[in-house]
Amino acid sequence: MNSNTNSGQTGQNSGQIPGQKIILSGMRPTGRLHWGNYTGALENWIGLQDDYKCYFMVADWHVLTTALDKAAEINLNSREMYLDWLGAGLDPEKSVLFIQSQVKEHAELYLIMAMMISMGRLERNPTFKEQIRDLNLGSEISYGHLGYPVLQAADILVYLANAVPVGEDQLPHLELTREMARRFNNHFGETFPEPEALVTKFARFPGTDGKRMSKSLGNTIEISASPEEIRKKIMPAFTDPARLRKSDPGNPEICAVYTWYEKFLPDEVARTAHECKNAARGCVDCKKILAEGVSEHFAPLRERRASYAADPKSLDEIIHTGCQRARETARRTMEKVHQAMGLG
Ligand code: TRP
Ligand code: SF4
Repeated sequence: MNSNTNSGQTGQNSGQIPGQKIILSGMRPTGRLHWGNYTGALENWIGLQDDYKCYFMVADWHVLTTALDKAAEINLNSREMYLDWLGAGLDPEKSVLFIQSQVKEHAELYLIMAMMISMGRLERNPTFKEQIRDLNLGSEISYGHLGYPVLQAADILVYLANAVPVGEDQLPHLELTREMARRFNNHFGETFPEPEALVTKFARFPGTDGKRMSKSLGNTIEISASPEEIRKKIMPAFTDPARLRKSDPGNPEICAVYTWYEKFLPDEVARTAHECKNAARGCVDCKKILAEGVSEHFAPLRERRASYAADPKSLDEIIHTGCQRARETARRTMEKVHQAMGLG
């Protein structure tokens, strides 16, 4: 569908198989990834690597829109994010793993995309309205924060991505991206594909308090957590509140621990449900078994992560190469953009 206007160029990305669809997605580096991030995104990304040309981005500039005070931590957090990614199985040979701020073309396309969308449209963005309400920001909101989806559009379009794996919360942003792509194409000729959302299906994943796992609620368990840390966080976790004694039958459907069984120890689910409902297993035992099982589940991830962490030079190299590959693609797209617009 993406007609190529550039004669003599096939629009190939480095290492791309012709006809292979392009994916871009990103995460903001705000600290070590937790089970919710893993279930909601990372695990899904890993499975996409064989079927698509994948670009996975550390969205460090995006952190600045809401957390200027965290600027000093961004670099460290970006490296931690790479370690989590590599540990979990993102493969730097298959996918391009890069840092947004290292590809300046994002900033240039951001500026151009800013002309493709109205202020009113950005102000009506439901995510933006929620944030203003939740953070009580009113007119104190920064220009860059309003432009968050414009930068996100540039992130996606600069790789000519066909699809973007995202959680449902990101759908409004993707719709805005499509609008900006359409606007550009209408004005300057078919240049960008209109990227589709690949919505990650995950039921809301519970944290240690039974609410949605989220860093801001302080209820997370990190995918890199050691067996001790896992045990410490699981033992006081939320269970069926009506179950006071071991002799009370429990209701696993309202228990966070049970959801974790479903996710990480599927072979144990039937027995756990049965023993819980029949008061044949106490919550303390139930959690001990889970802690052990989850520790084992994530052991390969921890080991792989640790081996990358022990070799900072090779991590530097992976980051450098990923950014370089991203830059090449982004540069080619910007040449097309300049040509389409008649600039430069
Ligand atoms: N907004 C995304 C989030 O908060 C991060 C992000 C930045 C992103 N740029 C992107 C996601 C481009 C997908 C595509 O999770
Ligand atoms: Fe939850 Fe297990 Fe306790 Fe049942 S026995 S309420 S599943 S922790």
